[in-house]
Amino acid sequence: MLAGFSFQGGVLNAEGVALPELAAEFGTPCYVYSRQAIESRWRAFDAALAARRRLVCYSVKANSNLAVLNILARLGSGFDIVSAGELQRVIRAGGEPGKVVFSGVGKRPDEMAFALEQGIKCFNVESAGELLRLNAVAADLHKTAPVSLRVNPDIDAETHPHISTGLRENKFGVAFELAPALYQEAAALEHIEVVGIDCHIGSQIINLRPFKDALQRLLGLIDRLEDGGITLRHIDVGGGLGIRYREEAPPAAEEYARAVAECLADVAHEIILEPGRAIVGNAGVLLTRVLYLNATPCRNFAVVDAAMNDLIRPALYDGWHEIRRVSEASDAEELVYDVVGPICETADFLARERPLRLRQGDLLAICSTGAYGFIMASNYNSRPRGAELIVDGDQIHEARRRETIADLMRGECLLPA
Ligand code: LLP
Repeated sequence: MLAGFSFQGGVLNAEGVALPELAAEFGTPCYVYSRQAIESRWRAFDAALAARRRLVCYSVKANSNLAVLNILARLGSGFDIVSAGELQRVIRAGGEPGKVVFSGVGKRPDEMAFALEQGIKCFNVESAGELLRLNAVAADLHKTAPVSLRVNPDIDAETHPHISTGLRENKFGVAFELAPALYQEAAALEHIEVVGIDCHIGSQIINLRPFKDALQRLLGLIDRLEDGGITLRHIDVGGGLGIRYREEAPPAAEEYARAVAECLADVAHEIILEPGRAIVGNAGVLLTRVLYLNATPCRNFAVVDAAMNDLIRPALYDGWHEIRRVSEASDAEELVYDVVGPICETADFLARERPLRLRQGDLLAICSTGAYGFIMASNYNSRPRGAELIVDGDQIHEARRRETIADLMRGECLLPA
């Protein structure tokens, strides 16, 4: 389940640092990431494709903390972005714009212009309207935009409906049957250069089959395009490889990347991957403290200091995250708890029906929260977001300081008297 975290002397450590030490210094709730875990996951994808021209583009949306991006930039990572904001983060973190692919169904003209000025590797274009707009923006800047079409292969990724993207009814990508005509249109536009093809069928996918099926469909399309005189330089497979939260048994990064390379063995294109969750998901925990134990006639509630504003996956996708006591031993009786936060919503739960031995004040680690954890946090109920910490051996880096109430009110003002 967790990479970079282990029990030492009965206490959960991030690499060489005991979590209670972090809680004492930085307070709770806070997110803790392992540098070594992040690096090893990225390297696993990259190494499995070593025989190919390749670019592993970490999907910034999974966790966009500058220090996380910096760790990956130092490895030579590319980046998959969905906004100008994410591009600015990549640049600030030392990433190369020339290794950035820009995805998303709603790119604004100003975002296109910024990305063109920075010289990104590719725009993953998702509609005819976007293609024409990009051509116009590029013309204004006297530039040529490198383009992939994101095609929708109509594949069932067998994942949660909210994170499935490769079905006909989803808003994502160019319909498969319309793609050849749109490629011809793209090739004829003066300020567009067609460079690749892209797909992304969903997230938290735990079988290789849907990935392979999608690639087969893409290969068929590439053949048709070549017959029509369009040759591509790269194939972008998207992201979506799942991780183990509970009992899932997803393929390892190496196995997945090898399967991709195998499917693409007969073509020489550069391979682009866009993994997010599989790199950072199991490299992080959310550290929280038990505020109160509240036994009602029908339930035992453990009220902790983290809430749905800190981690929304349980409320939004029924996400299941393992909860570990930070100190293994406890003399408390084992009871079945709902672990909930202080927010005034029934949806504010982090876990349901977990057998736990708890006392007020205990520290808990909510596991596998390195991806789509902090990044989806909000300030609901005027709750400042906690710190993000990166542990590197026995070193602690405060990658983001805890917000203050003043931070929350910055930019707001009263009406005139
Ligand atoms: N590429 C594109 C175009 C994407 O839309 C996504 C994720 C990725 C790559 C990275 O996918 P990953 O490797 O992380 O599965 N908030 C949800 C997940 C939303 C994923 C959105 N797109 C969750 O917490 O499960």
